[in-house]
Amino acid sequence: MDTVLVFDTTLRDGEQSPGATLNVEEKLEIARQLSRLGVDICEAGFPIASPGDFEAVRRIAEEVGPLTDGRKSGLPMTIAGLARANKDDIQRAYDAVKVAPRHRIHTFLATSDIHLRHKLKIDREECVEQVTTAVTFARSLCDDVEFSPEDAGRSDPDFLVQVLGQAIKAGATTLNIPDTVGYTTPEEFGWLIKYLRENTPGADKVVWSVHCHDDLGLATANTLAGVQNGARQVEVTVNGIGERAGNTSLEEVVMAIQTRPQNFSVQTNIDTTQITKTSRMVSAYTGMVVQPNKAIVGANAFAHEAGIHQDGMLKNQQTYEIMRPETVGLNASKLVLGKHSGRHAFRTRIEELGYTDLDKEELDAAFKRFKRLADKKKVVTDADIQAIIADEVFQPPEIWKLEQIQISCGDHSIPTASVCLVGPDGEQHRDAALGTGPVDAAYQAINRIIGVRNRLMEFTINAVTEGLDAQAEATIRIQPENGEREYGLNPQTSQAFVRSFSGHGASTDIVVASARAYLSALNKMLAAREEEVSVVAVNSEQWAVSSFGETTANC
Ligand code: KIV
Ligand code: ZN
Repeated sequence: MDTVLVFDTTLRDGEQSPGATLNVEEKLEIARQLSRLGVDICEAGFPIASPGDFEAVRRIAEEVGPLTDGRKSGLPMTIAGLARANKDDIQRAYDAVKVAPRHRIHTFLATSDIHLRHKLKIDREECVEQVTTAVTFARSLCDDVEFSPEDAGRSDPDFLVQVLGQAIKAGATTLNIPDTVGYTTPEEFGWLIKYLRENTPGADKVVWSVHCHDDLGLATANTLAGVQNGARQVEVTVNGIGERAGNTSLEEVVMAIQTRPQNFSVQTNIDTTQITKTSRMVSAYTGMVVQPNKAIVGANAFAHEAGIHQDGMLKNQQTYEIMRPETVGLNASKLVLGKHSGRHAFRTRIEELGYTDLDKEELDAAFKRFKRLADKKKVVTDADIQAIIADEVFQPPEIWKLEQIQISCGDHSIPTASVCLVGPDGEQHRDAALGTGPVDAAYQAINRIIGVRNRLMEFTINAVTEGLDAQAEATIRIQPENGEREYGLNPQTSQAFVRSFSGHGASTDIVVASARAYLSALNKMLAAREEEVSVVAVNSEQWAVSSFGETTANC
């Protein structure tokens, strides 16, 4: 059976979603998990965007690039860096990825008339010339070069044949066909892949890849149509995160290929039992909540509520289940541990859930939280344990730590919060505030202590399990006030954007969960400021020689 390579772009296209800002440590942790998952190529970022982005890609190349543990393919992940089709971007991408044993430069240029005319302001001839120069230069640095004609889904197929033929001549080894704006339908997109493979000179020398966006909800269908028409690389993100409606989701494509082998006759190198853990980690770090009815990884994806379904399931699971939950790493057991369960049982259970690499400190903290929860809640489920791990382990370094919070509220009182935080100086800081509601009061009190101005962009609160004693999981997104700090550079529009920061927290008390989420986001924002400063200091010499302004203007 042919193998379809999985190219994961969670850390690049995924991170372009508003609020999905990740710090270097989080990116490293996700990259390690992608390696365990069996991803073949990890697009680790857009190195020219900022010194922080460069450093994250470089560290992933250095620290995760060599890992082969538990990988079905036996090979380490290829680490890719994105570059627009110009020399500075390509050099920067290469410098960031080159330490990885397997590394790739991914360069792109738009080919649709809409983009050529209105965005790039060049004609078709100039476009072909720029692609040839860029791919030739990339290939002079690196043996593994991917080229993408951006907005291929709306480009003239015959012009694509011309551009892609030149890219192959210039040395491209993978040709990726993006449906950048999620415009095509499966028939059209499948036809396009077939047409390009049949008509591009040298087509058999390269790997054909597909990269779809989900604006019409067709990303997975289009990607699979590409595979049926000869694509042997799929570009995807975990949970389908990405700009606007997102990218094709990794788990959907992988499970469709595995569940319907007769339709695709291909396999992947993915260890599907790592899917649930990866999904939760990405959701926790990016603050992008997975909708409950999301295929494969949604909370309800394997739940059978209706009585008629339960009856069928008890007679034979195959009546309503096309995949076993264990296949995606979701253990079917609901009732797990109770207040008499010891450390050993807890450790065994979390390892069964896929958390095999917690250090002693993390394990201690998670066990303490579990014990406190088991005192309050009769039944502690896998979902509860996963929420505890997300809250204790998948968190940014605690610059400010919640020590105590007390709230008074009700329909005859003004919501009041008093808060005690431990600061970076190791001292306790206390303050109190009024608010329009208990969460607002808590946030105002925290603001009075930390004094960082920010705007709340999003706030959600969900119950982790059913039942009145359920834990609540709060997720929030904040942005530095006045938009005074620009952290990101969008590779496709070449526009800088103000990054926002997400945070999450869990507790049986919704105000405590909300306060923990707020502190998690604030800590991430403060750490990003420090990170930006220290990375500039580390790389100042290297950074000074790169002509960032010129590059931006060229694109
Ligand atoms: O959607 C797109 O066109 C992209 C390219 C950079 C591959 O993300
Ligand atoms: Zn994209």
